[in-house]
Amino acid sequence: MTVEELPTTEARRLLPVLREIADEVGPRAGAEGRVADYIPALSEVDPTAFGLAVAGVDGEVLGVGESRTPFSIQSVSKAFSLALALGADAEALWRRVGREPSGNPFNSLVQLEQEDGIPRNPFINAGALVVTDHLLTTTGDARGAVLELLRAESGNPRVDFDASVARSEAARGDRNAALAHFMASYGNLRNPVADVLEHYFWQCSIAMSCEDLAAAGLFLARHGLRGDGSRLLDRSAAKRINSIMLTCGAYDAAGEFAFRVGLPGKSGVGGGILAVVPGRCTLCVWSPALDRHGNSVAGVEALDRFTTLTGLSVF
Ligand code: DON
Repeated sequence: MTVEELPTTEARRLLPVLREIADEVGPRAGAEGRVADYIPALSEVDPTAFGLAVAGVDGEVLGVGESRTPFSIQSVSKAFSLALALGADAEALWRRVGREPSGNPFNSLVQLEQEDGIPRNPFINAGALVVTDHLLTTTGDARGAVLELLRAESGNPRVDFDASVARSEAARGDRNAALAHFMASYGNLRNPVADVLEHYFWQCSIAMSCEDLAAAGLFLARHGLRGDGSRLLDRSAAKRINSIMLTCGAYDAAGEFAFRVGLPGKSGVGGGILAVVPGRCTLCVWSPALDRHGNSVAGVEALDRFTTLTGLSVF
């Protein structure tokens, strides 16, 4: 029996659209854009790879292309660390990080000095370092907490850190170290800079597939409910994370992403993008060649086509 012959669920209903997108966009993956090379281990990834997965709120996950190939999730992890960080003393966190789009590259230093060491939002690197610092204080193991959440929600215990990517980034981590030291000089880090950087690099190094990541992000489509029915976030906090994904998830291209896709999304320089259709499903696309803002070229194209073909957007 093929999946089409089984009773229709959201994921099965959407599978033909995913196939159409993969047929059109997949063959052009890598033709435009470049893989991230400022993290040496990422430069070795095949730029022509393409995978796309959908997860319905009922938990069923289906994919096309290389949807089961693990990739480096990088900044997509920031949506998960924020979700965990908001679980403990959210008000304290919001005094230390804003929620406005930055209009600057994800690793920019300029606004930090003008704005007294308070990063614009939790998804630029400076903001994510503050979130990691908060999580380190509240859990004692920020990277472990993120890994545990991703394993539990994806249902895949093999999801893991990629030590070679983490070490590769640490070896070239001067820019993030500068951001962290600068914020520490304003008193906006509670833990030693070296510890915050270590947890941040390892969290970014987590490797998982489109299918795993689409499943793991379902709590954002389920208004805060985890796969086992327990609550990770209240409805309002889930709404807030989706809102920040819409306005800041693609950095200085967040406006263009909202214009083309019309969904909350979080990108990473590994080429992955997680997108959320609240109340319906999540999508995860992976294609490593990036535009100059650090977003996957084929990934944005695939999501643009998805919302155009299905009409499923938040607008
Ligand atoms: O800190 C960095 O530069 C990377 N670990 C993550 C950056 C990233 O994924 C930005 N995404 N588009």
